[in-house]
Amino acid sequence: MPDPSGKRALTRSRAVAARDEAVITPSMKYRLYPFVVARSDGVRMWDKDGNEYLDWMATGGTAATGYGHPKVRQAAIDAMNNEYTGPLVCYIHEPGVELAERLIDIFPGEFDKKAWLGVSGSDAMDMLAKVAPIASGRPRLVSYIGAFHGMTIGSGAISGHGALTRPIPGGHITKAPYPNPYRCAWGPCDKNECSLRCLDYLKNDLLVNVSPSDETAAIFAESIQSDSGEIVPPDNYFPALRELCDERGIWLIFDEVKVGLGRTGRMFGFEHFGIEADAVGLAKPLGGGFPLSAVVGRQEILDVDLYTAYTLGGSPVSCSAAVAVLGVIEEEGLVRNAGKMGRYLRDKLDEMKADHPLIGDVRGKGLLIGVELVKDQQTREPADTDAYRLAYRCFELGLILLAFGNVMEITPPLTITRSDADEALDIFDRALADIEAGRFDDAKLPGF
Ligand SMILES: Cc1ncc(COP(=O)(O)O)c(C=O)c1O
Repeated sequence: MPDPSGKRALTRSRAVAARDEAVITPSMKYRLYPFVVARSDGVRMWDKDGNEYLDWMATGGTAATGYGHPKVRQAAIDAMNNEYTGPLVCYIHEPGVELAERLIDIFPGEFDKKAWLGVSGSDAMDMLAKVAPIASGRPRLVSYIGAFHGMTIGSGAISGHGALTRPIPGGHITKAPYPNPYRCAWGPCDKNECSLRCLDYLKNDLLVNVSPSDETAAIFAESIQSDSGEIVPPDNYFPALRELCDERGIWLIFDEVKVGLGRTGRMFGFEHFGIEADAVGLAKPLGGGFPLSAVVGRQEILDVDLYTAYTLGGSPVSCSAAVAVLGVIEEEGLVRNAGKMGRYLRDKLDEMKADHPLIGDVRGKGLLIGVELVKDQQTREPADTDAYRLAYRCFELGLILLAFGNVMEITPPLTITRSDADEALDIFDRALADIEAGRFDDAKLPGF
């Protein structure tokens, strides 16, 4: 059990944190508290001082099957022991072929498909941004304000996230408003109206005057915009967008790097909207912690005359782990568990709203949940600093989670049980009460 007092010895952790600060650039860090991870197992983690934590993050959604799942671990060990351990570019290896077959099998759509294997979510989205214009002969792309597709120059260019706007080119890519019912770009309105307004702008202005349809290869979308705050579009948006894309011969490409492979209670996030995708990018949970990404989609998009490969893409160790991850997701009914546990958590968090004025909105699908914090439930003024205080206080009480802006992101391993959820909810509830009562020393926030 995590220590309920929140008073934890962090002596050994702080010593490693000091060494880290001296040698690792802050440019690769997004850290809200001084957690030095030493061990992880299932839905729990331990720091260097032996303190235990429940995990509401799954390390950015990577640990879908929980940390160290025995079948995933064994598959990787076997691959290390038995297989060629170099990558796929110059030679054929069976784990890579098997993984591609499995991905093609689970990707919905009665059309010819191909797969591509890489190393990270960024390179998968980057690959799609390169091939779609070449395969279609149309030079332009459309993506969304607030989207996060990765950190390479290409995947950054299709993103519309504030964190990526400084160093990124991409004049051929136009950003459309993403329908956000809680904070509609057009002002307060009904959910469905929010959708229709966003779509109307895209259809009658953006795809006519800025990125004309006959010059637009593809629209890139997240089926739930996650790094901008788990924004769930209204149900009528994607079906109407699919229709529009079909009418105008534009491919609809989904970034399923974070939401894909069961997290939302469906294998792919776009399936919630009753539509098919022309291609998807996958990564985070795919390799069970090993670096791996994939693109799956229409053969005509992927079989483009362009060499686009990474030397380390599709390593047999990662591919073997991924085949095991897909097996565990299926055998252990994790897609169903994500749906069931997600509903349970969202209901409980929604109930907390009555006692916690900091909670403005609770949303998400399956185990991709956002809790938006506000200074006032009526005005909806964002409470960013409180979100960072809350993440820190949860850490002190034994719960790991992240905040992006004023939204707490909850993405536990898909294996969580009701009792794990109740334990974490109790910590979250106590931490919220502490922040609301001003029981937090802000000096802890910077410079740990
Ligand atoms: C939706 C989405 N797409 C792409 C990426 C980039 O993935 P990676 O960090 O593996 O390059 C991320 C990472 O946070 C993401 O959330």
